[in-house]
Amino acid sequence: MQKRKTVPDFLSMKAKGEKITVLTAYDAAMASMLAAADVDMLLVGDSLGMVILGYDSTVPVTMDEMIHHSSAVRRGAPQAFILGDMPFGSYQSSSRDAILNGGRFLKEAGCDAVKLEGGLEVCDTVRALVNSGISVMGHIGLTPQTATQLGGYKVQGRDIASAKKMVQEARALEEAGVFSLVLECIPDGLGKIISEEIQIPTIGIGAGVHCDGQVLVTHDLLGMFDKFIPSFVKSYCHLSPTIQDAVADYNNEVRSGLFPDEEHSFSSQSGLRELLGLTEKKKG
Ligand code: KIV
Repeated sequence: MQKRKTVPDFLSMKAKGEKITVLTAYDAAMASMLAAADVDMLLVGDSLGMVILGYDSTVPVTMDEMIHHSSAVRRGAPQAFILGDMPFGSYQSSSRDAILNGGRFLKEAGCDAVKLEGGLEVCDTVRALVNSGISVMGHIGLTPQTATQLGGYKVQGRDIASAKKMVQEARALEEAGVFSLVLECIPDGLGKIISEEIQIPTIGIGAGVHCDGQVLVTHDLLGMFDKFIPSFVKSYCHLSPTIQDAVADYNNEVRSGLFPDEEHSFSSQSGLRELLGLTEKKKG
């Protein structure tokens, strides 16, 4: 059985130049497959709001929903390093709330660490979480929980002032104690500079090849979520049409009496009706 990775493992992966793979997982079955495929970290992202729960954004996702799904991911992947994504409203009100909610991910769901969005404004919260023993991954650039304040889902850090601010935020978050930092939807050159400027691993999503690791939403990678596909997503297969074809075949076979056939049925002894003391039913 594989040994569960730890925070120092990820720091030494960066030091050695080994890339880190991260994928989202929301349920036990997928978590088990991703762990078997040797993904370095599983993120129970609040993207589950859109991908799994059918919300229009990540904002409505609750702590209870995150705990429910994170627990399932832990059951499916006992040896994986699992991150719980702190949902909107679970850490902004106070450091105390952040510690209580962050603690729930570790105590109730068995997560190894939490992730939260934001720059300078969350540094005190990060410090409080880390001081209370909760490992934290940061997330800057396009932060979906506050996308409306950023003008929607668009590339961040294109102009010099905002790029400069992002470098400062990365440094401040590292200083506050995050062990890793998601960079979402920023120019690749800025992704490279931030990755060079800090000692902790950067995990890019739409942030270019120079980040220390990459994260994708698994349903995007597998071609299973067609509602909104950002241009930085690469689908390595297209399961949606495959699933729909399989379901259409099932419908046809059930409706035409082809399924279940003998191979998929349990044969019963002959004369069962008589053995049960029932008289023959006349057909028609
Ligand atoms: O919620 C999520 O899935 C995320 C990643 C895409 C970084 O935050």
